[in-house]
Amino acid sequence: MAIHITEDSRQFHLQGKNISYIIHVLKNGQIGHLYYGKKVRDRDDFSHLSKEEFRVTSSYVYEDDPAFSLDMIPQDYPGYGTSDYREPAFHIRQPDGSRISNFAYSSHRVTPGKPSLDGLPATYVEEESEAVTLTITLMDDHTGMKLDLLYTVYHDKDVIVRSARFTNEGSVSYQLDRALSASMDFPDSNFEWVQLSGGWSRERHVHTQPLHPGIQKIQSTRGTSSAQHNPFIAVQRPGTTEHYGDVYGFSLVYSGNFSGQIEVDQYERARVSMGINPFDFSWKLEPGGSFQTPELVSAFSSHGRNGLSHLYHDLYQKRLARGRWRDQERPVLINNWEATYFDFDEQKLQSIAEQSSRLGVELFVLDDGWFGRRNDDTTSLGDWFVDEAKLPNGLKPLVEKVNDTGMAFGLWFEPEMVSKQSELYEAHPDWIIQVAGRHPSTGRHQLVLDFSNPEVVDYIYDRMKTILSEANIEYVKWDMNRYMTEIGSARLASDQQMEVPHRYMLGVYDLYERLTTEFPHILFESCASGGARFDPGMLYYAPQGWTSDDTDAVERLAIQYGTSMVYPLSSMGAHISAVPNHQVKRVTSLKTRGDVAFFGAFGYELDVTKMNEEEKERMSEQITFYKQHRTLFQFGTFYRLTSPFEKGGNETAWMVVSEDGQRAVAASYQVLARPNPGFRRIQLTGLNPETEYKIEGLERTYYGDELMHAGLPLESGYDGSQTGGLEESGDFTSQLFVLTAVTNSTTMDEVEK
Ligand code: DGJ
Repeated sequence: MAIHITEDSRQFHLQGKNISYIIHVLKNGQIGHLYYGKKVRDRDDFSHLSKEEFRVTSSYVYEDDPAFSLDMIPQDYPGYGTSDYREPAFHIRQPDGSRISNFAYSSHRVTPGKPSLDGLPATYVEEESEAVTLTITLMDDHTGMKLDLLYTVYHDKDVIVRSARFTNEGSVSYQLDRALSASMDFPDSNFEWVQLSGGWSRERHVHTQPLHPGIQKIQSTRGTSSAQHNPFIAVQRPGTTEHYGDVYGFSLVYSGNFSGQIEVDQYERARVSMGINPFDFSWKLEPGGSFQTPELVSAFSSHGRNGLSHLYHDLYQKRLARGRWRDQERPVLINNWEATYFDFDEQKLQSIAEQSSRLGVELFVLDDGWFGRRNDDTTSLGDWFVDEAKLPNGLKPLVEKVNDTGMAFGLWFEPEMVSKQSELYEAHPDWIIQVAGRHPSTGRHQLVLDFSNPEVVDYIYDRMKTILSEANIEYVKWDMNRYMTEIGSARLASDQQMEVPHRYMLGVYDLYERLTTEFPHILFESCASGGARFDPGMLYYAPQGWTSDDTDAVERLAIQYGTSMVYPLSSMGAHISAVPNHQVKRVTSLKTRGDVAFFGAFGYELDVTKMNEEEKERMSEQITFYKQHRTLFQFGTFYRLTSPFEKGGNETAWMVVSEDGQRAVAASYQVLARPNPGFRRIQLTGLNPETEYKIEGLERTYYGDELMHAGLPLESGYDGSQTGGLEESGDFTSQLFVLTAVTNSTTMDEVEK
C-alpha cells in the first residue's frame, strides 16, 4: 500500500519505492509537514517527528497554546497572515481588502491512479495500479473558498507529484494573487542548492551553493520558462556527489513564468516553494470558478545526483512524454538552418537531402524561411503560406523528392509569433500581446501573438493543419524566438490583465494538444531560440527539444551535462555543425563534435554539399555507429562521471549503460591540452561487476568491478613530439569506449538482488 492513513490523528504517510512523505492535519486544520526522505516504516503516530516549542518573540494562533506558532511549524501548503512570516504558497485578495485566509481540513479521499489536469501538461499512469492519489480538501469558511491539495505517489518510483486547485464556492469574486504548485518545509537547512541557469547559447549550466539565511530564488518573468533559469531546483546534503548522498529535486511541469525559491528562516528551517511566478500574476476567481496549478514533481535519491536524474529520466521518458514517438527511436536528422539560413531554393534543398540520404540521414528538416516572403528575419511570421519564389511548386513535390531519397520530411514553424511586416499583422493588429497606448517593443522584428485569445489559436491551428495536411510531413520543429514585453490582451477586462501570461501558456498547450491529436504520427521537437523553453511542460507534447543553438562541442559539454540533470538523452536534440562554429567560432574535430552529439537525439546542421569526400565518409561512419548504438544512446541509463563545472572544467566524462548491463558507451573529453600531462583514468559506473567486458579497439578485456573501482586508463595522446593530428591530441579531444559483455554471467537484476 502506498498511502497509510491514521484516521484519528489524521496523518498521511505516502510511500514510494524507497521514499516516505509524511504530512498531518495541524490543530488549526492546516496541513503540517512531518517528514520527507528515505523510506521509513509505517507506524500509528509520527507526531514526535515535529517539535513545537514556545519562543519568546513569536506570535501564536491560540492564546493558551504559545508553542503553536505557524512561524515555527513545518507546513505543506502554508498561508500568510496568521503567525507565519515566511512567504506563503498562496495569497487571496478579497473584496473587503483582506488577504487573510484560514483553510482548515475538511475531508480527504484516496483514488487509484492519477487524474489529468485540465488543459495542463502532467505526468500520467497507464494502469491505475501504478500510482495512487491523495486529495486533501480544505475550506476557508469565511470566503467559501475550497482548496484541494493533490499528492500522487507511484508505487515503484521515488517521486511525489503535487498540485493545488482553488474553487470559489462563495458568492463574490476573489483575486488569487499567488497560487503556487507546492510548498514544503524541511526541518533544517543544511543543504546546498543546485540550479540550472545561463542564457542564450549557454543554457542550463550547473550552479551549486550552500543555502544561506533569507530567500534564494530563481524565476522567469519572460513568458517562457527561459534560457536564464530552468524550472528546476535541487537541494543536496553537503558532500553529495554524482554518485553518493541525499538529494531532493523539484521540477515544475510548466513552460511559462515560474518561480522556485528556498527561504531559510531564523530557526534554520528551509521552505521550498515553486509554481507560477506570483510576480505580475493575479487570477480573478469568479463564483463557481476554479484554478488548477501546474504540477511539481519532487524526487528524492540517496544515490547522489545521478540517482536523482534517473528518477526524472524514467518518469519523464515513460510517464510524461506521450504518443507514438515516446518509445520509438528518433531518426538521425539533417537541418538546413546553419547550411543555408534564409538563402535556399528547391534545388539547394534537394541536393542537401540527396547527399545526406546517401550518407544514412533519415530525416530532412526544412527550417525557417519557407513561407511568406521571408528572406531575412524582418518579415512574414504569421503568414503560413509557402513562398512560391523559393518553392514554386509548393511543399508537396519537394517532400515527395525527399521521400524518394528514402528520408522523411520535417518542417519548421514559429506559431506563436507575427512579424510587424506581415499580412497577418496588417489584418489583425489587435492579435498581439500589447498594452493600449504603449509602444510595443520588438525582438527580432517580431511580436508575440495573443495566445490568450482562442480566436488567434484557432486561426493558427487552421493554418498549420492545412500545411501539415498538404504533404507528407513527419516532423515539426516548433520554435519560439522572443520573450514577452508590454504584457496585455485587448480581449481581457482590466482586472484580468495579469492573467495573460498563464492564459497564453494554456493557449500554447491547447494548440499543441490539438495538433498532436490530429497528427499523431508527427514527431514534434520544441525549440525557443535553442533551449529557452526546454522544460517538462513541453516534453508532454514534444518528446524532444532543441537543447541549444550552441552546437560547439566544448560548449555542448556543459549544456548537455546540465540538461541531463533532469531531462533524458532522448529529449535532447544534439547536432554536429560546421567549423568554425557559428556561435563561438571554435574549430573542433568532426570526431569530437560527433562524440559529444552522440549523447542525445543525434543529427547534423551543416551544408553536406560543401563537405569533402573524407568528411563525408566520416559522417557516414558516424551515422552507422550511432544507428548501431541508438537504443543505448537514446534510452540507456545515463551517468555523469566528470563534471565540466568542477576543477576548472577542463575535463568531462559520461556514459550510457543498457538496462541489462551488457553494453555501454563511455566518453571522456578534454578541452585544453596540457604538456607532459598526468595520467588520467575514469571510473565507470552502472556496470555489472561480474561481467567481463570487451572494449572496442583494446586488446585486453576488463571486468565490471575493475572498470568501476580501479578505473579505465585514458590515452593522453602526448608523446612530446606532438606529431599526432588534431583528433588524437591537442585541444578539444575526445575518447569513446564501446563496451560489450563477453561473458553472459550475472544480469543487473541479479546483482541488485
Ligand atoms: C532559432 C532556432 O533555435 C534555430 O535553430 C533556428 O530554427 C532559428 N530560430 C530560425 O529562425
